[in-house]
Amino acid sequence: MSSIKIESAELLEHPILTDIASRFGFSLTTELSLPFQLAWLDEKLQLMQTDTPAQGGVSVDFNSPQSDYRRSQISIKKEAIAKAVGAKANHRPSVLDATAGLGRDGFVLAALGCKVTLLERNPVVAALLYDGLRRAKASASLSGWIEDRLEFIHCSSLDLAQVESLVTSAPEVVYLDPMYPHKKKSASVKKEMKVFQSVVGADLDADGLLENALKLATQRVVVKRPDYAEPLAGVKPSFVISSKKNRFDIYARTV
Ligand SMILES: C[S@@+](CC[C@H](N)C(=O)[O-])C[C@H]1O[C@@H](n2cnc3c(N)ncnc32)[C@H](O)[C@@H]1O
Repeated sequence: MSSIKIESAELLEHPILTDIASRFGFSLTTELSLPFQLAWLDEKLQLMQTDTPAQGGVSVDFNSPQSDYRRSQISIKKEAIAKAVGAKANHRPSVLDATAGLGRDGFVLAALGCKVTLLERNPVVAALLYDGLRRAKASASLSGWIEDRLEFIHCSSLDLAQVESLVTSAPEVVYLDPMYPHKKKSASVKKEMKVFQSVVGADLDADGLLENALKLATQRVVVKRPDYAEPLAGVKPSFVISSKKNRFDIYARTV
């Protein structure tokens, strides 16, 4: 996918759109031709499934009422991810989320009080995340909070030299959640997951992430996996934390 659909040629000079297009390598077009298409609708970037426009697009909305509610419910005691990264009442680790996706886990970690650096390589996902962070920074309720705790970098975590040159300090925790092939494609696979799977695919090179993560993290590497999946790269974790839908494999660097 290499274009963003716009409603009219007047938007060709829109400063936000030209910024996003040049940053992530998209052109702007008024034509609609792809089965999955980035589109600028309602002043935000959305990923649409072209043949079912009525079901709406996928976008990153950290400042939606749902995100506000989710944020109000987040606490160290309740979130398995908090335990997984080693967050405690007096310690919030810095986290490099090396497979950021749409930033949901990164957002939870930031809401817990961690400083989070988000890395995403896929240009479509990266553009959605960048636009979501841009709108969150502009919103009155989230602006200072997001700027303090969430940083975003568009690059591949497999390129260790590039990551080391771009992150300002070594993260205490590296968090990994690569795409994993689902057991079966059920009708209940959420809209978001469906378009995501079609655009990103299966991250078949994910095993390579663990070695880099272990070099970068000063405390631990956390890998989120479906409960039926093998450990990443076949490497046995130091310990496992299970939650309702997933498990977290923890690779400890320090005791
Ligand atoms: C399952 S999604 C992550 C979802 C995310 N944890 C969330 O809560 O929204 C996996 C993401 O990792 C990204 N990814 C996979 N390998 C990567 C790599 N080497 N560098 C950066 N991003 C990568 C994929 O493009 C995809 O967007």
